Amino acid sequence: MTKRITVAIDGPAGAGKSTLARRVAARLGFLYIDTGAMYRAVALWAGRAGVSWEDRGGLERLALEAELELTPEGRVLLNGEDVSAAIREPEMSQAASVVSAIPGVRRALVIKQQQMGAASSCVMEGRDIGTVVFPEAEVKIFLDASPEERARRRVSDLASRGIAAGFGEVFEEMKQRDERDSTRPDSPLRQAPDAIYIDSSGLDENQVEEALLRIVRERTSNGKEVQR
Ligand code: DC
Repeated sequence: MTKRITVAIDGPAGAGKSTLARRVAARLGFLYIDTGAMYRAVALWAGRAGVSWEDRGGLERLALEAELELTPEGRVLLNGEDVSAAIREPEMSQAASVVSAIPGVRRALVIKQQQMGAASSCVMEGRDIGTVVFPEAEVKIFLDASPEERARRRVSDLASRGIAAGFGEVFEEMKQRDERDSTRPDSPLRQAPDAIYIDSSGLDENQVEEALLRIVRERTSNGKEVQR
């Protein structure tokens, strides 16, 4: 008997969720699902289509109609177009945060996420995976790091993509985004009561990856019965 396993990783911006989720999914042979990319894609489409951030009905319609595909290579397709680079532009972070506070947008994307995750074992990362999308996930992690560390990581991530940004500006932007993501009435960023808290400040990527793999093995009797 094999069992489908869901690994849910939630946490604030810049905690290292994407790197961790991608690496652990590759090690386990699981699907990697970046739910933030889906909110970013809807925000990108809204910007291009001229739908205002106040037009809740219009934004919900876009979220319902969006054909979103996350490829095994990590590309993000919106209605068939590769938008992987466009959704990572700095202004898309705030736009996605605004769009994601709208309940209708969340409803539409949560259904898509549940369908994607139901197909096979997966590592899914976001803000509400362990609380709302897959509350029954076998493994739940709340990944955190100090605000300074998260801003430093974001600055170096942007620099590696040729985008120059100052620490102060990134720190403030992140603070605002964390505030909005944690205080919205619908599915705010919260640690699930049964999630394991990992503070990645001062840990390198290998250490965080090993810590998570240990937890997955413990929770799934060494992964013997895991379906990929
Ligand atoms: O993970 P990210 O930075 O790419 O996410 C962009 C925004 O999308 C984030 O500020 C909040 C929102 N988001 C969300 O509300 N729920 C999720 N499951 C994932 C992201």
